[in-house]
Amino acid sequence: MKVLITRRIPEVAINLLKKNKFEILQPISDKPISKNRLKLLAEQADGILSLLTDRIDKELINSLQRCKVIANFAVGYNNIDIIAASEKGIIVTNTPGVLTDSTADLTIALMLNTTRRISESEKFLRDGKFTGWKPDLLLGRELKNKILGIIGAGAIGQAVGERALSFGLKIIYYNRSPKREFERKTRSKKVSLNTLLKTSDIISIHLPLSDETKNLLSKEKLELLKRDAVIINTSRGEILDEQHMIKMLESNRIYSAGLDVFHNEPDINPRLLKMRNVIVLPHVGSATVETRNAMAELAAKNIINVLKGRKPLTPVNHE
Ligand code: GLV
Repeated sequence: MKVLITRRIPEVAINLLKKNKFEILQPISDKPISKNRLKLLAEQADGILSLLTDRIDKELINSLQRCKVIANFAVGYNNIDIIAASEKGIIVTNTPGVLTDSTADLTIALMLNTTRRISESEKFLRDGKFTGWKPDLLLGRELKNKILGIIGAGAIGQAVGERALSFGLKIIYYNRSPKREFERKTRSKKVSLNTLLKTSDIISIHLPLSDETKNLLSKEKLELLKRDAVIINTSRGEILDEQHMIKMLESNRIYSAGLDVFHNEPDINPRLLKMRNVIVLPHVGSATVETRNAMAELAAKNIINVLKGRKPLTPVNHE
């Protein structure tokens, strides 16, 4: 049986698939696969190991001839039309769990960076502006006793909350269902989205992108934020109204933003790049050697399981 891997990922996936006697389609390249090539190769594949940068839409899914499984190398799967896949009986899997810690670590790094102005301070020094210690040089804000509002208390949101506790942050969260164990561990409280936005000093977004969450933080919702609030986003850019957030940052209506995700990646709105109070990262939430290896292994195991007639480890649709 044949497996299409759409772009170079850690060797462990390729080795596992080969060990299980699967043929890997095409020499795997480091560049994103073109739409035409994806369609051509996908038609021959029994399984596809896709990336979040591949658009697996209804048209592509309907053209598949023999594919039984699409294993996304990401926890988010908004790049795949799940309904179309389910209608065609194709199992879709993602990589939850293995990237929770790396993404939560990066979220905390962004909180520290925005509030302590780390990138800005480093640029200041590299630009030759450091002429000596000064009482009011690059003053930031402390985390202790501030309120952190976690939007989406899934695995990553909860891991962020657990870390945040050790910085003395007080935690509130917005989620569909209550998370009692998380509340107990972090002394956190479930609140409505409006209450969270009105009371948090820092908000951190940890929701999957879907029709319900797209633009959840609309212009009106963002306007509920406290003066001097900080926005951290390591989930998906489209969950908030980016244009409006930019206006709020430009007018210093909010304090800063730490962003790992954007609308229209990799084309970043140039206005974001000009502001000193914005930290911009190139979507590196899960980018550690350990995590990327684990993601590759999990994606490959999902393909192997489905093609061998066993249950997938981490399905997102259930036949
Ligand atoms: C990364 O953004 C992921 O969804 O894994």
